Amino acid sequence: MIRSPSTTFRPPFVKLLNGGFHTGRQEPVSEMSSNEAKSEAVVAYVRLNHDRYLSELKEYVSIPSISTLPENKKDMERAAQWLKAQLEKMQFANTAILPTEGHPVVYGEWLKAPPGSPIVLVYGHYDVQPVDPLNEWLSPPFTPTMRGDRLFARGAADMKGQGHAVLKSLEAWMTKTGGLPVNVRFFFEGEEELGSPHLEAFIAKNKEKLTSTFCLNCDGGIAAPDKPSMVYGLRGLEYFEVWVRGAESDLHSGRYGGAVANPAVVLAGLIDGLHDDDGRVTLRGFYDKVRTVSQEERDELNGHGFTDDEWRKSAGVKTLYGEKGFTSSERVGIRPTLEVNGMLSGFTGVGQKTVLPATAMVKISMRTVPYQESAQIDASLRDYFRQYAPPTVTVDIKRISTGPYAIVERNTPQLRAASKALEQSYGAKPFFELEGGSIPVVGLLKNHLGVNTVVLGCGLADDKLHAPNEGLHLPTYYKGIEAYARFFGLLSSPTT
Ligand code: BES
Ligand code: MN
Repeated sequence: MIRSPSTTFRPPFVKLLNGGFHTGRQEPVSEMSSNEAKSEAVVAYVRLNHDRYLSELKEYVSIPSISTLPENKKDMERAAQWLKAQLEKMQFANTAILPTEGHPVVYGEWLKAPPGSPIVLVYGHYDVQPVDPLNEWLSPPFTPTMRGDRLFARGAADMKGQGHAVLKSLEAWMTKTGGLPVNVRFFFEGEEELGSPHLEAFIAKNKEKLTSTFCLNCDGGIAAPDKPSMVYGLRGLEYFEVWVRGAESDLHSGRYGGAVANPAVVLAGLIDGLHDDDGRVTLRGFYDKVRTVSQEERDELNGHGFTDDEWRKSAGVKTLYGEKGFTSSERVGIRPTLEVNGMLSGFTGVGQKTVLPATAMVKISMRTVPYQESAQIDASLRDYFRQYAPPTVTVDIKRISTGPYAIVERNTPQLRAASKALEQSYGAKPFFELEGGSIPVVGLLKNHLGVNTVVLGCGLADDKLHAPNEGLHLPTYYKGIEAYARFFGLLSSPTT
């Protein structure tokens, strides 16, 4: 029996330090402006071009732009070039592939809208996740393949489909009206799937290029094809790697087993102790600054999103698990978590090898919520291992990445325009939801430039992001192009 720290250690109760949260209100939609009439002509044009869009998108998703693998560096450059060429075709100015310490940013601008028009910073990412396990793909990940009404390829849904959709909405405006209804600065990065490690420095260095009224973040999605939704908050991400070391090298597990501590066993116990029996994270102070969420906001979250049973089915599990006292939508939307993302120790090949491993490693990440502090989490994780690791091992903790949570102001003209564009395109009023995933740029733009974000995308919950057989639902992607087109039209209309 492993005696884990969780049986003796209990975390402090959540202290509700922060006050209520203003959820904002939708105002009634107004009558049609001339730009809205133009939007409808643009939408009609979009509908005539589906086949061309699809063949172009296939080209884009064929490029294996996996940001984490050094062998795909050339492909990252190709994807960046592909985007830049799209901007050049639309007569964007100052198009460039701007260097960072890692993969570059694709930039371009079109600033010829009538005076007083907003400047929309259009954000996306052209990088994708790795494809493993490859043998579970029904078609090769970079050979885009249609099955039913989905296009299967790595990155099709996260987020080359959305990135392409926003480009095509701009192109349609250009083609139909000879210009855009708003100013646009196009800003696509190549390291989002790595946690955007060099974006903070890029933002600090390129403030003028990012000067904007607000940011349209295309890396989002909606709840279902007939159930549009808008993301008003995302969790942050803190990523660590923890190494536990015992002997100087692997040992014979018969010769030494019983006489020497096994790092894999030690680490397993330490990992177990990171949660208590109520599914709460035991790190000191972990919940101290977590935002108080009003009952009204919790009811809204629970009323519109997945029910627990839908969460269960969507994850494909027999029974759900999580922090006591919260629904799944709340666990993902308003509560922080700590996950093990991977473990490595000893022999994992076919058959057996009697070895007492010298090391064990775990990748641990936390999804954070307002107003947790990155430095506090870092310190409490280190304290935990210092306090509970037995003297038989040494522990080495590496910080891999840090990305802020974000919460967006809901009561803005841009959000109202987005809501109206979604309603006109998907035929239902959108609801607000909190996303459990992370997009670091949202918090970075807010914290460094004071720029607010509207997250607007056309991905769906069952697109299998980051998993084998990722696929884009084409009818939703086509409507997504329409929604972006209408959004741009509405932004320029004084009535929103
Ligand atoms: N597109 C996702 C985030 C997302 C997921 C938005 C689902 C809306 C619905 C994004 O590309 C992503 O996966 N981000 C990473 C960020 C991390 C590496 C900092 C994530 O959440 O794991
Ligand atoms: Mn994404």
